[in-house]
Amino acid sequence: MERLDKIISTAKNISRADARSLIKRGRVFVNSRAVTDIGFKADEKSDSFLCDGEELFYNKYIYIMMNKPKGVISASNGKGEKTVVDLVPQEFRRKNLFPAGRLDKDTTGFVLITDDGDFAHKILSPKSHVPKTYIATLDKPFDDEVVESFEKGVELKDDLCMPAKLCTLDGDATKGVVTIRQGMYHQIKRMFSKFGLQVLELERIKIGGLGLDRSLAAGECKILSEKEIKIIENKL
Ligand code: URA
Repeated sequence: MERLDKIISTAKNISRADARSLIKRGRVFVNSRAVTDIGFKADEKSDSFLCDGEELFYNKYIYIMMNKPKGVISASNGKGEKTVVDLVPQEFRRKNLFPAGRLDKDTTGFVLITDDGDFAHKILSPKSHVPKTYIATLDKPFDDEVVESFEKGVELKDDLCMPAKLCTLDGDATKGVVTIRQGMYHQIKRMFSKFGLQVLELERIKIGGLGLDRSLAAGECKILSEKEIKIIENKL
C-alpha cells in the first residue's frame, strides 16, 4: 500500500503538493471512485488510477538507458560540469536519479540511470557477476598473450582483476571486445596499458544481457521495460 499523493505525484511527475491539490479537488479516481482524502492509501499494484479521465501508471522506480556522449560525466552532480543526469529529458526526470556505475568522461555508450539504489547495488557488486561489455579501440593490435592474461586476471597495482574476456571485433585486433565483471577506476584502460597498449576510444555496448539500443543517438535515452531490466540481471 502506498499513499495516494505519492502515487499521483510519481505517476504524473509532479510535486506531492500539486498531487494533494488534485486529490482535494476531486480530480483523482481510484477504481472509478473519486477520492478526496489526501491521507488515502491505495494498492499501487492492483488498483486503477485516473486523473482528469486519464489513466495513470505507477512505477515506483524508473530505469533509463542512455547512450552517453563524450564530454559529460557520469554523476548526478557535476559541480559545474555537464552530467548524464542533466541530459535526461524533462518527461523522464525524477528526484534522486543517478547513474548506476561510472564511465570515464571520454567513454561513450550504455549508461543506466535510475532512482533504485538496491537495483544499482545489485548490478554493480562484483559478487553479483553482472558482466559489462565494451569495445576498445587501441593504438596497436593486441595478441594472444593479452587475451590469456585477461583470462587469468590482470594485476593492477595491488589489485588482481577478475578474469575478463577479450576477443577481436570482426577479426580486427586493434578493436577489442572486452567483458569485465567489476568497475575499478579506469579498469580497461589500465588493463591494456599493462601490455603497452593505449585505449583511444572506449564504448560500453552491454550491461548484463542487455545491449545498447543502436537507434539511440549520442545523448539520447529511453525507458527500459520490466523485461529489459530482467535481461540486465540475466534473469531471462
Ligand atoms: N574502463 C575504463 O577504463 N573506463 C571506463 O569508462 C570504463 C571501464
